[in-house]
Amino acid sequence: MSTIKACLFDLDGVLVDTAKYHYLAWKQLADELGFDFTEQDNERLKGVSRMASLDILLSIGGIELDEAKKQELAERKNAWYFEMISKMDASEILPGALEFLQECRDNGLKVALGSASKNAMTILNNTGITPYFDAIIDGTRTTAAKPDPEVFTLGAAEVGAAPEECVVFEDAEAGIEAARRAGMHCVGIGSAETLGKADFVVSSLGDMTVSRLTGIAVS
Ligand code: BG6
Ligand code: MG
Repeated sequence: MSTIKACLFDLDGVLVDTAKYHYLAWKQLADELGFDFTEQDNERLKGVSRMASLDILLSIGGIELDEAKKQELAERKNAWYFEMISKMDASEILPGALEFLQECRDNGLKVALGSASKNAMTILNNTGITPYFDAIIDGTRTTAAKPDPEVFTLGAAEVGAAPEECVVFEDAEAGIEAARRAGMHCVGIGSAETLGKADFVVSSLGDMTVSRLTGIAVS
């Protein structure tokens, strides 16, 4: 049996709702390219890296492009997305997130970010939650995207916790898989239907308390 020493949080969909901005920016790109991109299509991009997201988008539109053109489109999408997240503030922090981050800190748990996003620092700073983190691992610091465990393994090392002493909070299947491959416990944020591989699933961090982590440590 191990005790929990660190909580590792995904960003998009766990601490803030940025999926709507990703959707608007990808939709603008799809509109320009001349095909429809629905909110249901957007579900497939959650937790997926920027370039892998573009590949999925292009496959929906039945479009094949060379690497240089793909880079250009990814940069265009990101410029629109960046404009939107630049206007974010604390009101966009998801319900219960701030309270749970604070409860973790009050209980002496280390707090780390494990996000695929290269825009994580902008979002953390604009919403004012940067000071809650002992370690921040984002898309600028990793070489492999989730479901590769790298982002969480780096976070655990930076806060000095062994994998079995860590709990990951994730809203995407690829993130749950990454936590599992890292040998960590995992709480799903969202629906049990898609996140069944987590130790347990809550609908938001508003349903989380540090005491609920005690049960996980023995699983
Ligand atoms: C993840 C999001 O957190 O970050 C994905 O769930 C996104 O939708 C990925 O594609 C990369 O984000 P960014 O900000 O680097 O384009
Ligand atoms: Mg996410």
